[in-house]
Amino acid sequence: MFIGTDKLTHTYMPGTPFASDALKNISFSLGRGSFTLLIGPSGSGKTTLIQHLNGLLKPTSGKVYFDGKSIGSDKSALLSLRRRIGLVFQMPEDQFFSETVFKEIAYAPRNLGLAENKIEERVFKAVEQVGLRPENLLDRHPFHLSTGQKRLVAFAAVLSIEPEVLILDEPAAGLDPAGKLMLFNLLSRLNRIEEITILVSTHHLDEVAELADNLVVLTGGRLEMAGKARDILARRSELQDLGLALPQVTEIIDELAARGLPVCTDIYSLSAACNEIIRLKRVDQS
Ligand SMILES: Nc1ncnc2c1ncn2[C@@H]1O[C@H](COP(=O)(O)OP(=O)(O)OP(=O)(O)O)[C@@H](O)[C@H]1O
Ligand SMILES: [Mg+2]
Repeated sequence: MFIGTDKLTHTYMPGTPFASDALKNISFSLGRGSFTLLIGPSGSGKTTLIQHLNGLLKPTSGKVYFDGKSIGSDKSALLSLRRRIGLVFQMPEDQFFSETVFKEIAYAPRNLGLAENKIEERVFKAVEQVGLRPENLLDRHPFHLSTGQKRLVAFAAVLSIEPEVLILDEPAAGLDPAGKLMLFNLLSRLNRIEEITILVSTHHLDEVAELADNLVVLTGGRLEMAGKARDILARRSELQDLGLALPQVTEIIDELAARGLPVCTDIYSLSAACNEIIRLKRVDQS
């Protein structure tokens, strides 16, 4: 397995009256080069699971694997793991600490001990990868950017280590729908073109769900489903029983089918819904 867990359980505050299992016996694996959405409502354990995948938390029981090896607590092994797995925290811009965007993005490659010209190369490459323009940006204070720009700078700061795996904890929180779509298209491009393995946590099964190859569904610290995105999206009633709303476009298309229109119901994105409605109109006219 490239990255995954075997019977992972995590108990916060063990041995106290407040002890609670945030993760219960979780086993799953992700292939190299895959793009996976980790879906679950608030408190389902997404952040806890993500922190295990980067060695930030230690399992109460069970194991976490990366590249065929169990992640232990050896300091140098953890350091090398964090050079290969880039983690973008929830609201990453809250953790900015540099006075310019350049310094913020240069921080990680500088820590790797790279020469100044290599650091600069990494900064420019990362800025380009997230679709920002370096002119008029690199000298600005990171706090003076818009929320969307800050989020992209935070991604660039992680991409500057050239990670093999990118794990993002609710990266779209606080972005408008256009910003969210742009962000997921960017992640999809990083996955396809740069071949970065991507795991993204999110609350909602919305129209970006289709961009991922795989879905992992968590509720109450339990792994409810894991597998190909389209297979899981087709398990409509089970998802609804877990309290997970379907993408709005899927609900609209299902309603049209329920009212007798001969629509294909395998629809999860706005563009697929538009194509299906155009197809129906053509059938109707012929
Ligand atoms: N440091 C902590 N100490 C004690 N309990 C914690 C801690 N962090 C999280 N928990 C508990 O563990 C459970 C899972 O929390 P976690 O933050 O992993 O969920 P989440 O799915 O990321 O939620 P959200 O979508 O709100 O970010 C929750 O019940 C939470 O209250
Ligand atoms: Mg969280």
